[in-house]
Amino acid sequence: MNLQIQVLFITVCLFAYSSSLKIGETCSTSQCDTGLLCETCAANGNTRSRCVRIQPVNPISKVKGLPFNQYSWLTTHNSYALNGAKSATGSILVTEYNQEDSVTNQLKNGVRGLMLDMYDFDNDIWLCHSFGGKCFNVTAFQPAINVLKEIQAFLEANPSEIVTIFIEDYVTSSQGLTKVFNASGLSTYLFPVSAMPKSGEDWPTVDKMVQQNQRLVVFTSKSSKEATEGIAYQWRYVVENQYGNGGMKAGSCPSRAESSAMNTKTISLVLQNYFPDNPNITEACADNSAPLISMTKTCYEADGKRWPNFIAVDYYQRSDGGGAPEAVDESNGQLTCGCGNIAYCKANATFGTCDVPTISPPPPAAAAGEGSSSQVPSNTAYLGGTSLQLRWLFGAILATILF
Ligand SMILES: *[C@@H]1O[C@H](CO)[C@@H](O)[C@H](O)[C@H]1NC(C)=O
Ligand SMILES: *[C@@H]1O[C@H](CO)[C@@H](O)[C@H](O)[C@H]1NC(C)=O
Ligand SMILES: *[C@@H]1O[C@H](CO)[C@@H](O)[C@H](O)[C@H]1NC(C)=O
Ligand SMILES: *[C@@H]1O[C@H](CO)[C@@H](O)[C@H](O)[C@H]1NC(C)=O
Repeated sequence: MNLQIQVLFITVCLFAYSSSLKIGETCSTSQCDTGLLCETCAANGNTRSRCVRIQPVNPISKVKGLPFNQYSWLTTHNSYALNGAKSATGSILVTEYNQEDSVTNQLKNGVRGLMLDMYDFDNDIWLCHSFGGKCFNVTAFQPAINVLKEIQAFLEANPSEIVTIFIEDYVTSSQGLTKVFNASGLSTYLFPVSAMPKSGEDWPTVDKMVQQNQRLVVFTSKSSKEATEGIAYQWRYVVENQYGNGGMKAGSCPSRAESSAMNTKTISLVLQNYFPDNPNITEACADNSAPLISMTKTCYEADGKRWPNFIAVDYYQRSDGGGAPEAVDESNGQLTCGCGNIAYCKANATFGTCDVPTISPPPPAAAAGEGSSSQVPSNTAYLGGTSLQLRWLFGAILATILF
């Protein structure tokens, strides 16, 4: 009995202590702080699980009211292609996967750009990862309306959030996109093409987009849809670097074939792709770490000194520490307040006045020792708490003796 109580007490203490592990600290499952996940990154030599980031800072909550094109948004490549998914046709899928959690969960984690491949299929519009411009049972994930409804639910529940959809568009049926957007309830949120800047001007402010409830920005890869359905042709409004392996060569940031040159200043939005031709769940944590940040700087130069508005990756939750959320935070710092990270922005300060913490952030997990050095801060805090309690106890005893 006594032993059981002791075991219970120890368990509770361990839980209370371990349930708030910080970035880079070694962990076993579900002990990390909110916004972190417990993962290894064998591709970078991290075979012990550590807490890594899966959520960027919401930039609108930190620096309010800027034009839409002065923020950076975490974007998922093939957002719908969930690892291990089965086709809603009942068929097995013979295709590649790019993410691990639902669009609902991605949105919850701060993903605000979604890349969706849409096809005519089975008398409807489907999300497929296919080839030859056609969808088959073995490449068909699910009807697009399911995921569009998830986005609709998010926009309804979060009235100050803005979401962008990039459609890789294989739909040829008449008004096909409009019908499915109408049916999902998303049409009411559409930001109108007529209000999109066409000569490199700023976008409306996020405040205005929220006030007018025009909180869904949609781009299609098919130019004709702008005239026929009022859906913006992506490369009139966005420059984009090469996707796949061609976009992962250190030191270069070429534009993809459909895009204007990266430094085209008459186009206001910049999208940075960073993922390989063949998605690889074990390599993604390495790609999404230092090489991603490094490419963001390379692309900044290629873009005519512009930080990306969208950073698109595979397996966005994978990294060896800060990952894609860190890359987005750094871009947001540069874009919104002229600082190296949005965490360093000061309220109402002039551009470039930064609040850089004196204590350096935790080292990347790869650089830390066997988890001991990065645990020092919480140990110290824990001991600090204990000594405070002891001092209080001594004070109380002293007071009892004296009076
Ligand atoms: C393909 O999926 C459809 C449902 O979308 C189903 O009716 C059909 O039987 C499937 N075909 C094969 C060969 O599995
Ligand atoms: C979509 O909805 C709008 C507004 O309700 C309507 O005017 C339009 O006809 C619909 N389009 C299609 C193709 O269903
Ligand atoms: C992913 O990359 C690893 C090397 O890190 C390789 O061994 C593996 O075959 C790759 N997997 C896929 C699915 O390409
Ligand atoms: C920043 O400015 C806004 C609007 O002028 C004001 O409401 C807010 O209190 C200011 N914040 C700080 C920390 O000075």
